[in-house]
Amino acid sequence: MAYIRAMDLIRYPLASLAEKVGTPFYLYDVGILRERMREVAAATEGPKLHARYAMKANSARKVLECAGDAGLWIDAVSGNEVERALRAGFAGGHEPPVILYSADVFRDNALRAVIDNGVLPNVGSPGMIRELAEADYRGPIAARVNPGFGHGHVQACDTGGPSSKHGIWHEDIEEVIGLAAGAGFPVVALHAHVGTGPQIREFDENMRKLVDLFDELLPRFPKVEAVNLGGGIPHPYRPGTPSYDLGGYRALLLEAAESLAETAGRPIRMEIEPGRYAVAGMAVLVARVKDLKRTRTNAKGEGHSFIMVDAGFNDLVRPAMYGSYHEMSIVGRGATREPEPFVVAGPLCESGDVFTRDDQELLVPRMLARPEPGDLLVLHDAGAYGAAMSSNYVSMGRAAQVAWEDGRATLIARRESIDDIVRMECDEPI
Ligand code: LLP
Repeated sequence: MAYIRAMDLIRYPLASLAEKVGTPFYLYDVGILRERMREVAAATEGPKLHARYAMKANSARKVLECAGDAGLWIDAVSGNEVERALRAGFAGGHEPPVILYSADVFRDNALRAVIDNGVLPNVGSPGMIRELAEADYRGPIAARVNPGFGHGHVQACDTGGPSSKHGIWHEDIEEVIGLAAGAGFPVVALHAHVGTGPQIREFDENMRKLVDLFDELLPRFPKVEAVNLGGGIPHPYRPGTPSYDLGGYRALLLEAAESLAETAGRPIRMEIEPGRYAVAGMAVLVARVKDLKRTRTNAKGEGHSFIMVDAGFNDLVRPAMYGSYHEMSIVGRGATREPEPFVVAGPLCESGDVFTRDDQELLVPRMLARPEPGDLLVLHDAGAYGAAMSSNYVSMGRAAQVAWEDGRATLIARRESIDDIVRMECDEPI
């Protein structure tokens, strides 16, 4: 079983960092981040394979720089993600296609960002080909396929199958071939991302099924040079869950590169684009315990003990949105007490602002040491889709982000201020 190094809280001066930057804040362990990026790079080393970092999981500049240092390319899904990747030092251009733009819609500056920087557009709907043609795009495209199957830790994260909006249905790929030929766009890559779920065996099976599907589709795409299997490598959020063996995945990819090259009669580069795997475990969200209180059992239901913290779903939305599990620790005076069942809730004016619930919106009390107000409560494995999905709901500024490297802390994103929040407000006649 592959081993994933987790953040050991002993190693960080959490209390003094909390004093300095205020709570809640994200703490990124850059050593772990680099290690994980290197692992992904090692699994795809060599001319036949390449990994992109799916920057939607965490687009902090520091994270992008570490991805670049490891030699990864980028999967971007908005015009501004393309811009951020370029600013962090990733190259534009098609040869090689360092940045791939994968979305089902061009919005805002996305079409311009793609065209002006020679970024490879991964077309997820036929209309995108028309839009590219109308904007006088000249160049290659990739095509994203919905293979008809997928997996997800919840329905919302299953991105393949009849209920998924992503990509072009595999049986309707002829339309893309026709439109691309009409516009003079060579299709140089085929792509699918079937979702992101915790089941290792299901992930492996789906990757094999994807390779088989691309094997069938390839003969109709004489210009394809790369086949991309998307992201979705599982991260072990729950203690005791096995971590994914990247060595096995490398073997699968090398075999796929071989067999697809044979089908195509030319070399085919296999690409993957993990986000979560590279960043989930390198971060914690540190919150302050503000109070403890309880409700009592009555005719409506069971009573609970609540730990009230100053982080909410505005900081980390995954538990409220998907019922996702994040391991928690108490740091401070209460830390060594016998664990008791607690519901952990945040500051927002919503009953769903709870970090201990399942995907049916039911409370799942967690065994935690009874903290004292003022102690810290740490949410683990918060590096993927944490800060990236945070918001300034109720005008609370987004949390600060701190990077920890070689025993030193650096503030890499300060807390969002009231001035930041009102900066876009204006009064302009149009
Ligand atoms: N490629 C594409 C085209 C994607 O849409 C995604 C994720 C990835 C790669 C990376 O998947 P990963 O390796 O991170 O599983 N907010 C949800 C996850 C949504 C994933 C969206 N797409 C969560 O917090 O679990």
